[in-house]
Amino acid sequence: MNHFQYSNQDLYCEGVKIEDIAEEVSTPFYLYPHATLKQHFNSFNNAFEGIRHLICFSMKSNSNMAILRLFAREGGGVDIVSGGELYRALKAGVNPEKIVYSGVGKRVEDMEYAIKTGILMFNVESRQELYLLNDSAKRLNKIANIAIRVNPDVDAQTHPYISTGLKENKFGIDINESIEEYKIAARLENLNVSGVSCHIGSQLTNLSPFVDTLKKIKGLVKRLGDIDINIKYLDLGGGLGITYDSETPPMPGEYADALKKELNKTELTLIFEPGRVIMGNAGILVTKVLYTKTAGEKNFVIVDAAMNDLMRPSLYNSFHAIQPVKEGEREIITADIVGPICESGDFLAKNRQIGSPVPGELIAVMSAGAYGFSMSSTYNSRPRVAEVMVKEEQYYIIRERESYEDLVSGEKIPDFLE
Ligand code: LLP
Repeated sequence: MNHFQYSNQDLYCEGVKIEDIAEEVSTPFYLYPHATLKQHFNSFNNAFEGIRHLICFSMKSNSNMAILRLFAREGGGVDIVSGGELYRALKAGVNPEKIVYSGVGKRVEDMEYAIKTGILMFNVESRQELYLLNDSAKRLNKIANIAIRVNPDVDAQTHPYISTGLKENKFGIDINESIEEYKIAARLENLNVSGVSCHIGSQLTNLSPFVDTLKKIKGLVKRLGDIDINIKYLDLGGGLGITYDSETPPMPGEYADALKKELNKTELTLIFEPGRVIMGNAGILVTKVLYTKTAGEKNFVIVDAAMNDLMRPSLYNSFHAIQPVKEGEREIITADIVGPICESGDFLAKNRQIGSPVPGELIAVMSAGAYGFSMSSTYNSRPRVAEVMVKEEQYYIIRERESYEDLVSGEKIPDFLE
């Protein structure tokens, strides 16, 4: 069920007219329907019914505390990559025993914070990290559960910036060399080897790379078993893609079936770290048209959101559908939808056929729930935008728009300049 729907030409989010929200909250803002969030989380979670599993939402895709709280209430945990994410997750009420910690560059302070918190598992990405984690755990008189993040050398067939499972990528440890690392880990007194983890990339639209990876990992688990290293958790990462334009990714059910088929009856507990597949189409960015102009053959629609608010088009040349918040008969034009930032790379859409908009009207940038707000910045001293959640007929501000004061908070003029 799509919770962004037109009724009498007005775009609604669940039971709330988006125009009404804009009037109160001003623009730009991110908007998330509660029903979609819940539906997406549960359809992924339910797809794995019958097999022991845990969904650790990849909170880098969207780390708003209200959203984390919602998934925690549905039984989810989170995948974190920093101390800051751990802090947010705990504040949002996520159970520490449902937190896994990935990342190639974990800082000692952050590892210690996570050890003290008693998280489920560290996904370790290098030998140096194994030793450092063991030392930290020893200092704190604790045992840290670990998985080694293996790099299976599988082509995820996605954008190179978000492909992570190839030999040439910085992530994980080569799957064939990982046995050595497991042996070292098993000897370190303050580590407990409990899993194997991987994440091969993001926005995957084919099942085969996932299945190929699982095959390789199954082989590894068996080889580890043969040397008495017994694995309890298989963390298969995230990566399932969504439809932004005309992609046809597998549905969570198909993804789950393909993996289940490969696993048969397993004693292992599966961990998943989905981000985009849950959040991507559960959020939009609402922005106002400021100006329209023509330069030679080219049409520009200048809106009040920019690359600092939604970086994906500038960074990956990624496609986000653009929809009017009020439908109507319009002339169709080809235009670049651009923001106010002083860079030519500041665009939300390029050469896009849209119904010609007029200044003052609202447009929606679709599929912006994942890696939208979470990648935003204050470049050009633009305060970060508000985030709003709708539930049925009500809307709730889940993050206030930043103020100009927020922009300078923490900055200091040194004495010698006073
Ligand atoms: N687990 C790990 C270890 C990851 O690095 C990631 C994403 C995920 C899970 C979640 O992947 P997902 O299910 O969302 O595909 N900023 C880029 C995406 C970067 C993904 C980074 N890692 C974008 O906007 O497309």
